[in-house]
Amino acid sequence: MTTDQSAIQPVTVPNLGDFHDVDVIEVLVKPGDRVEAGASLITLETDKAAMDVPAPFAGTVRELRVKTGAKVSQGDAILTLETAASPPPKTQGDQNPPPAKSRTAPVEPTPAQQGDSAASQQADPKPAEKSTPQLVSVPNLGDFHDVDIIEVLVKSGDRVEAGASLITLETDKAAMDVPAPFAGIVRELRVKTGAKVSQGHAIAMIEPSADPTPAQPRAPDTPPPPVSRPDTPHPEPARPSRSETRSNPTAPGTGRLKPYAGPAVRKLARELGVDLARLSGSGTRGRILALDIQTYVRRALEHTQGGGMLPEVPVYDYSRFGEIERQPLTRIQKISGPRLVASWLNIPHVTQHDQIDITEVDALRVQLNQGEGKRYGIKLTLLPFVMKAAVQALQDHPVVNASLDVAQHMLIIKKYFHLGFAVDTPEGLVVPVLRDVNRKNLWTLAREISTLADKARKGALTASDFQGGCFTISSLGGIGGTGFTPIINAPEVAILGVSRAELKPVWREGRFVPRLLLPLSLSYDHRVIDGARAVRFTRTLAEALERYDGVLDPPD
Ligand code: COA
Repeated sequence: MTTDQSAIQPVTVPNLGDFHDVDVIEVLVKPGDRVEAGASLITLETDKAAMDVPAPFAGTVRELRVKTGAKVSQGDAILTLETAASPPPKTQGDQNPPPAKSRTAPVEPTPAQQGDSAASQQADPKPAEKSTPQLVSVPNLGDFHDVDIIEVLVKSGDRVEAGASLITLETDKAAMDVPAPFAGIVRELRVKTGAKVSQGHAIAMIEPSADPTPAQPRAPDTPPPPVSRPDTPHPEPARPSRSETRSNPTAPGTGRLKPYAGPAVRKLARELGVDLARLSGSGTRGRILALDIQTYVRRALEHTQGGGMLPEVPVYDYSRFGEIERQPLTRIQKISGPRLVASWLNIPHVTQHDQIDITEVDALRVQLNQGEGKRYGIKLTLLPFVMKAAVQALQDHPVVNASLDVAQHMLIIKKYFHLGFAVDTPEGLVVPVLRDVNRKNLWTLAREISTLADKARKGALTASDFQGGCFTISSLGGIGGTGFTPIINAPEVAILGVSRAELKPVWREGRFVPRLLLPLSLSYDHRVIDGARAVRFTRTLAEALERYDGVLDPPD
């Protein structure tokens, strides 16, 4: 390397361990960009990890020699960099600092790392042989102290791969992930979102996997210290590279991955208030790129055009008025919240209330439960009866079994009868879909309701369990209430709320008689269904239930 001050220097791909022909999944700079030493230039991705190649020194990008989609190996040219006045930093026998330390042959620690506490596993990528939990602490952060933890990405009990991000730190200049130095199980978390940490601060106790190799048999790189993106220049990265893996924390039991995005992209999302869980990444293997966020925000803004921006609801520092507790929303709440808002804002809702005399049908239900129900091992609640009656009403009033295509000025009427039903779970409300209700008898429906509700409560529903619904029933009858205004499960056009049946005196033939009355609340899209249609629908449903003579075949 020359020592000229203000010379054009080539920057090449550093030692990638065992990897060759690695995909360039993002080029993060363009000619003319001024980059700090350590700012990421390109992102490489193997089948195990994504890693940034940082600038070995500060300068101005002159010529790009790689493109997104190219494959590179050690020594391949990335770009040329016109050096700044200050000399390039010390390197490790290579022009560039490596993207990550080698697991099998760890590189020499930097002077700053040599000063690290012996307890810091971040500075020592080798897990202990035995499976005693090891302390993982904050690595060398250069000049930074008291850095904010903006995200804790794992929780106690999570299994993490080597290189999976544990926490995200944010300074006023950069967002950076601290990766797991080895694979294992998080036994104890010692940090919280919002805390401030410096080098050596304990993050977690991680029990190393007995055999860490199977998880990443070919990955050459152990987790490096954190790195910043060029849009968030890190003033003095100790070893500027980042490893992020798709083996990042999964919610136990759900098998779901956190959104696959780097720290800089997550930071951008946070700044713009974008929920990454709602985006599909256009990068390799679904990685969310900054461009995806920009597109999402642009679309959201376009969507508000014409309707104007909504006035914001003020947020206060409530602790000024008394004790408070901050409780994070569940994953289901985070997903369903925006959908409810979308339905509420886009659909002119009207709710039609009605009540149905279910005295006879409920007596039949009780009788069936005492007879065939015992034989089949199935208990009938009112819900399957309501579903069968709802199908009859949907068949008689097809506009209710429809979706609106506003752009095409079309009503799409469905000839199938897949009914969603709201299930109350500890994580929030979910709506699985029961298919072909018209073709199933009461017993089969009761069994399938129970199976889907169990699955929902265990968080085990799959995407297909939610798809294809035409009409939704939200039954709160098991809990109580006399009526409510359910929000339409868009893009459906109506939803039926069912409240608690009650014995009430009804005037019949000159006297009061006790009858079991079931309150119904039908919310409907007034662009599609008018009031007369809505009340005809609930009347058809009522008559179907009042004179219930459904087929009582045994379960399938
Ligand atoms: N009136 C009176 N009793 C009713 C009733 C009604 N409308 N609906 C149900 N019940 C009774 C049942 O017969 C059962 O009684 P039993 O234990 O004495 O036999 C009891 O209430 C519990 O029924 P439930 O377990 O709720 O069964 P279900 O088939 O009626 O409902 C689910 C199944 C999954 C829909 C229901 O459990 C659920 O999660 N509901 C919540 C839906 C929700 O949160 N909606 C909110 C939307 S904003």
